[in-house]
Amino acid sequence: MTITAERSSDASARENLRDLLAKYHCRVHQPSDPPLFSREPKSPMQSHHWKWAELRPLLNAIGQGIDLNADGPRRTLRLASPGLESGTTPTFWASIQVILPGEVAGAHRHSASAFRFVMEGGGANTTVNGESYEMNTGDLVLTPAWAWHDHTYNGSTPMIWLDILDIPLMHVLHATFFESYDSPTQPVSNVPDRSSRRYGSGLMRPTEPSRDEQTLNPLLAYKKQMAEEALHQAEGVVADPVDDVILEYQNPVNGKSALPTLSLRLQKLRPSMRGAKRRNTGCRLYYVVRGKGVTRAGEAEFRWSAGDFIVIAPWNWHSHANLSETEEAVLFQVTDAPTLKALGFYREELEK
Ligand SMILES: [Fe+2]
Repeated sequence: MTITAERSSDASARENLRDLLAKYHCRVHQPSDPPLFSREPKSPMQSHHWKWAELRPLLNAIGQGIDLNADGPRRTLRLASPGLESGTTPTFWASIQVILPGEVAGAHRHSASAFRFVMEGGGANTTVNGESYEMNTGDLVLTPAWAWHDHTYNGSTPMIWLDILDIPLMHVLHATFFESYDSPTQPVSNVPDRSSRRYGSGLMRPTEPSRDEQTLNPLLAYKKQMAEEALHQAEGVVADPVDDVILEYQNPVNGKSALPTLSLRLQKLRPSMRGAKRRNTGCRLYYVVRGKGVTRAGEAEFRWSAGDFIVIAPWNWHSHANLSETEEAVLFQVTDAPTLKALGFYREELEK
């Protein structure tokens, strides 16, 4: 094989080789290709603010307009960040799930890791690999990768929770597995709250965790009361310059993040707190549990209150302030920092 290329310019040489190389499923970089590298991250994603006052009617609309079939898709309102084709961040999706009295979200499992943070209501149950957990406002319930899970609800008013899954990461890695259970719900173990009873203290644990318990986080539910009490105890001891008083829900076996790809955190901005600016690779999503404040992200200014969501795009300078002089603000935060750290891509800068 003889390959000749005009050398009149690098651009034409590259163009002249395009068809020949394509026959062999090869290519060279073309001048029209986007650059491979940028001096710093340049994401098409934009930081964004979803207001509860606008989300609430949308949730009512999907609650009234979409039926939930136990063997069909969930009834969820996805938060789609501007600049992305789909999803909330490049690695995870945030959705708000609405479940009505008497409904069942049928059992299935998938290779994406997921969790729920209960926004409103109580009394639903999530069953994970046969263990059933009651869900009430402020509780966090995990459904780790490839764990069977279903939700049932026998309350009297609609229940709403935040659903987060690392679906975009699973998609980009072409690592999607999904399986439906052969009935809407799983048999429930006769040992209630097994994982909470073994690991829920956070300080004591079984002397010999099983192999499975060492592979995936064995603690499936983190109760609101435990998390709020821990945050209260931490108040004033050590504070983050940006996020103020903040604690992470941890895997009790290895001390790492609750899910391998995502770090879940609860934080308190004390009255009148004015935080420093930070930028980092990866994304942060905040859900306002209570309080009022303002988050500045790049040129944008988001004035938030309870029920709002704010997402920070990669490498976007951001800071928070509590606008009240007397009331604390509490935020639930999700970040994909564990994914970036595991791959060596995590960087952050704090404004001096
Ligand atoms: Fe699921």
